[in-house]
Amino acid sequence: MAEVPVIAIDGPSGAGKGTIAQKLAARLGFHYLDSGALYRVLALAARHHRVDWDNVEDLAVLAEHMDVAFRPKGAGEPPDVVLEGEVVTEPIRSEEIGHGASRVAAYPEVRRALLARQRAFARPPGLVADGRDMGTVVFPDAPVKIYLTASPEERARRRHKQLMEKGESVSLADLAERVRERDARDATRAVAPLVPAPDAVVIDSTGKAIDAVLKEVEEVVAARLGGRAARR
Ligand code: DC
Repeated sequence: MAEVPVIAIDGPSGAGKGTIAQKLAARLGFHYLDSGALYRVLALAARHHRVDWDNVEDLAVLAEHMDVAFRPKGAGEPPDVVLEGEVVTEPIRSEEIGHGASRVAAYPEVRRALLARQRAFARPPGLVADGRDMGTVVFPDAPVKIYLTASPEERARRRHKQLMEKGESVSLADLAERVRERDARDATRAVAPLVPAPDAVVIDSTGKAIDAVLKEVEEVVAARLGGRAARR
């Protein structure tokens, strides 16, 4: 069987990866993997099962066995995330669970337990995989690797806007501080630190409209995949 083309999109949170990856997947008719959602679901599942976020052994067991599914909605819309039969799309997006996700993601045992699950998303006709280590660890042979970034200030502003829309009030200064802290933790952790793959194309989305970024990404995809990614 011909290899399934994988488009790896990595970068820090708030760079616009989710939006870009979902739009790209919809345009190409490819599957979509939100790997960050897996770490978030794990943090939530740990809460449900009263497993501490630093209990590595139990976290790894949970990571391997938790019953999680992504239920597709409309094209270009984020899929619903279902944990043990319960829709958790909204709860996993809270600041608190985001913090837990970053904590559990720092353990090699947890990352290893989630590897096979992530790789199983690579099915025909192709996959757009969104995360931190898609191009470096999970899909090192991906023919397309993009590292999408934006300045910390811009990422904090985007997150602030999202939270305000959800009615969560957090100060912009606090958020900017947290963005910096999370960046530092994600970039300096021993396993799968957040760094661009050597063969990734780096795109900075600071000050750019979504459509402009999508266009840049599509140009990279066309150059690297050619006819294998004919738009539907
Ligand atoms: O992209 P996100 O904010 O939903 O990710 C939540 C956390 O999970 C974030 O702190 C980094 C971590 N993560 C990771 O370590 N590796 C991935 N491939 C995706 C997310």
